[in-house]
Amino acid sequence: MKLNSSNLIIYNANLVDSSVNSKGMLAVQDGKILGVFLGEVNDEQVAKKIASSIFLEDKREPVCFDAKGLTLMPSFIDMHVHFRYPGQTKKEDLDSGLAAAVAGGFGTVVAMPNTSPVISSAGMAREIMKEVEEKSLAKVFQTVAITKNFEGEDVSEISKLSSEEFPVITEDGSDVHSAAVMLEGMKLAGKQNIMVACHCEDKSLSIVAKSYRARALDFMKKYGIPAGKVNAKTENVPNSVNFEIDGCLTAANQLLALAEDIATERNIEIAKQAGCHIHICHCSTAISMDAVKRAKELIKAAKTPVGFDCTVEVTPHHLGLVGTEAPYLRALVNPPLRSEEDRAFLVEAIKNGTVDVISTDHAPHTQEDKDNGSPGFTGLETSFAVCNSVLVKREGLSLNRLSQLMSENPAKLLKLNSGKILPGYDANLVLVDPDEIWTVNPEKFYSKGKSTPLEDKQLTGRVHATFYKGKQVYSL
Ligand code: NCD
Ligand code: ZN
Ligand code: ZN
Repeated sequence: MKLNSSNLIIYNANLVDSSVNSKGMLAVQDGKILGVFLGEVNDEQVAKKIASSIFLEDKREPVCFDAKGLTLMPSFIDMHVHFRYPGQTKKEDLDSGLAAAVAGGFGTVVAMPNTSPVISSAGMAREIMKEVEEKSLAKVFQTVAITKNFEGEDVSEISKLSSEEFPVITEDGSDVHSAAVMLEGMKLAGKQNIMVACHCEDKSLSIVAKSYRARALDFMKKYGIPAGKVNAKTENVPNSVNFEIDGCLTAANQLLALAEDIATERNIEIAKQAGCHIHICHCSTAISMDAVKRAKELIKAAKTPVGFDCTVEVTPHHLGLVGTEAPYLRALVNPPLRSEEDRAFLVEAIKNGTVDVISTDHAPHTQEDKDNGSPGFTGLETSFAVCNSVLVKREGLSLNRLSQLMSENPAKLLKLNSGKILPGYDANLVLVDPDEIWTVNPEKFYSKGKSTPLEDKQLTGRVHATFYKGKQVYSL
């Protein structure tokens, strides 16, 4: 049952944010957290009594929600999703994207502009955000492209944007090819205090990588291996063909690693000179992460120009999977799944504090598009479970640190009053069972994108309920 109320009490919970981990309850008034009580409260009457001292003058009868001992965290915030609206609604649309977001425990997402047409103006983005707001399920920041229509030339729209409405701009899906244009764009963004999220990929190398991928796909088509199913059987395929496919994909991945490393370094240097905040999207290699780490050290030592800042996101799939051998070698995504050394370096970068946020890069496609080689996976509905399984259960990270990466830090970057369980903060909350083991069945995803390399995998940690502005918007 989903609950709707202006006043809400959630009791019998384990409260976890970036600094708290305690049994407790909280009271919500008109979408905001009004009070937090730490200590065991598993009786509704007791909860009401405690809450009445918090609500004071407010006589409205609150709705009581028994969390049944599960863990209540601030909703997750995803700085990188593709909702495919407008123009690609066979892959996803606002309703399916938002449904996937709330099922994954998200209260805020940042939507990429590589739609059809490309979102190149404040007006276009505003219309989408208005539509989203009316649905009242989650907040969406719709990003605008760095260059008009991703054509790599005209950056004039940036000066018309305000950072409150548009905290992030991006050319995600590709990079701005010309360094001169990127510098111009970053200078404008720096002036407006707008973050530039960079998909770091050198085009001259990625073009060659794409031709290798195309060759692999030709072989896969010829032998009836669906590219969208990473576990597809290849027993009846001659060894020489499997060898050829894997060789092409390995060559593509190596080129794309170089493409990422060169572009990450380039974009950081441009941002330095422009005095702009660069946010590195889906950082996937040790070399690129090291470039971020060095940039952060310079910032800390105050050895960089005013206005320059550098933050970085990693995706759950780059933390959880390795793509140097079949089957995951064939799981097409940009940047590709990397080596075990890279993966371990990313985990280390989370442990040593280099990584700011975890973002899904939720990139849904139709099965047909996946089989034709479209890169990207659906990610919103497995993000918490992957991060919890890999980082908390396997690597020993605390749930507090995971909350920081998935809620507090992105909230700070987007200047939101959420991401913590504190009075005055938005009552955007998610109830999870961090110990529940479940098996990923993409057919049950709310997202239209059913393609994930995690199909049939067992994960630990499950979202049970999501609250947006104090209203329950998802129930398992
Ligand atoms: C993304 C998409 O499909 O839009 N694909 C992907 O492999 N990640 C684009 C992107 O994030 O670069
Ligand atoms: Zn990208
Ligand atoms: Zn993306």
